[in-house]
Amino acid sequence: MFDPEKFITSAIDQIRERIKERAVIACSGGVDSTVAAVLMSRAIGEQLLTVYVDNGLMRKGENSEVDAMLSELKVNHKIVDASEEFFEALKGVIDPEQKRKIIGEKFIRVFEREARQFGARYLVQGTIAPDWIESGGGLRDVIKSHHNVGGLPASMDLDLVEPLRDLYKDEVRKVSRTLGIRFSERQPFPGPALAIRVLGEVTPEAVSLVREANAIVEEELVRAAEAGEMALPWQYFAVLLPVKSVGVQGDARAYGRTIVVRAVESVDGMTANYVKIPHDVLERISNRISNALKDKVNRVLYDVTNKPPATIEWE
Ligand code: XMP
Repeated sequence: MFDPEKFITSAIDQIRERIKERAVIACSGGVDSTVAAVLMSRAIGEQLLTVYVDNGLMRKGENSEVDAMLSELKVNHKIVDASEEFFEALKGVIDPEQKRKIIGEKFIRVFEREARQFGARYLVQGTIAPDWIESGGGLRDVIKSHHNVGGLPASMDLDLVEPLRDLYKDEVRKVSRTLGIRFSERQPFPGPALAIRVLGEVTPEAVSLVREANAIVEEELVRAAEAGEMALPWQYFAVLLPVKSVGVQGDARAYGRTIVVRAVESVDGMTANYVKIPHDVLERISNRISNALKDKVNRVLYDVTNKPPATIEWE
C-alpha cells in the first residue's frame, strides 16, 4: 500500500541529500509539477525558482489561476511570457510528434535561460511513471513522446531531477492532498497543452477556438456533476479538428470547423473508458459551443472510443 506521508519524508530527505545548489522547476500548474514544486520548495526553500511559462497554449484563465495558487503555497515563482516564441516555432507544423518535440525543446530553452539568470545547476520536472513508460521506457513502443521526456534535446546544460518518476497518477494525487494543495483533484492536462488539441497547424486563432470550446465543456460538466446529473469524469476537454463541413446559419450557408468533445474515466491514464454523458448535457455543450463560435465552428461531435485502441488525447 502506497503511503504518501512516508513518500514525502523520504523524497524531501533525498532531495536535500542530492541538491546542494540552486534549482529551477518547470511548473504548469498541473498536479504533477505542482507537487514536485512544493516538495522541492519544502526541501530547499529559496534555492528553488519555480518557472511557469505562458506559452500561449494554456486554458482560459489558467495563467492567473496558477500565479495565485503558487503565491498561496508560498513557492518562490516567476511567470515568463514566451507565447510568441512558441507560435513562431510551431508555424506550419502539423505532425503530432514534431509538435511535441518542438514544444519540449522550446520549454527547455526557456528554462535554460531562466536557470542561467538564477544561477541554477538543476532542472526539476514533474515526470511520472506513465510519461516515460509511454515514451519508450522499458520494452514498450514509443506511443507518444511526452513533452517532458521524449522532447528533451540531446544537449542540455542542466542536470535533470525527477522526484515523482516512480509514481502513478493516483499516488501523486494522494501526495498532493497530503501536502494540502487545493488543485489536487484537478484533471490532468498534457504538457504540450492545447497544441495537441488543435489538429493541424497551431495558430493563435485555432488555439482561441479550442480554448473557448474547452472552457464550455469544463463548465457544463462541472455544473452537471454539481446538479447530480452525472459524476465528474476523470478527464474532459475539447479538440479542434481541421475538418470543415457545411452547415446553415440563419438562412445562409456556413462552412466551419469541427469540435470534438472527449470525456473519459480512468485510474492512471494508461487505459480509459469513454464516459456515457447524458444526452441533455451533450446538447447543452453543443448548443453553447455553436453559439459561442458562430461562423467558425458548425459541428460538435462526441468521441465514444476507449483507450485502447485510441489514446486519451488525439495527438
Ligand atoms: P494519452 O493521450 O497518451 O494520455 O492516452 C494519457 C494521459 O497523459 C496525458 N498526457 C500528457 N501528460 N505530458 C504530460 O504531462 C504529455 O506530453 C502528455 N500527453 C498526454 C493525457 O492528457 C492523459 O491524461
